[in-house]
Amino acid sequence: MTPESKYSNEGRNAPTWFFLFFDGIIPVGVAELFDDKKLRCLYIGNFGIVKKFQNKGVGSEFVDWIEKYCMSQNYRVIELTATPNSIGFYEKNGFESTDKCEGSFKKIINL
Ligand SMILES: CC(C)(COP(=O)(O)OP(=O)(O)OC[C@H]1O[C@@H](n2cnc3c(N)ncnc32)[C@H](O)[C@@H]1OP(=O)(O)O)[C@@H](O)C(=O)NCCC(=O)NCCS
Repeated sequence: MTPESKYSNEGRNAPTWFFLFFDGIIPVGVAELFDDKKLRCLYIGNFGIVKKFQNKGVGSEFVDWIEKYCMSQNYRVIELTATPNSIGFYEKNGFESTDKCEGSFKKIINL
């Protein structure tokens, strides 16, 4: 990742990164991430796996990768707002709901 890979997202008032997840040379997933350095929080803004690769463990592998990235960058927590149909996926991956807003989930990575 380089600073040039960030871009300003007008809707969010924070620069975001897009990470692609590959199976060999085939892109199979995408995650949009942004952060709050003061809170040591990494937010997942958007997350998706290509349809024909869904339900094969790819999404969980990608979440594991994001968690390792978080550890390496010393973020404390990952937060996201889950769509209603993806809540079970995040629960299976160890995220807990918060009372911030509907569908809000978090996972503590570092203390
Ligand atoms: C939700 C999504 C990211 C899951 O990725 P995936 O690669 O299909 O998920 P995995 O195969 O890693 O599933 C891991 C576990 O979560 C479960 N799971 C997956 N999707 C689920 C869902 N929508 N609801 C409940 N459980 C789900 C799986 O059954 C699996 O459980 P198991 O370990 O007991 O077998 C993917 O289906 C997707 O991209 N959906 C469309 C976009 C979307 O909804 N993105 C999330 C927006 S925040």
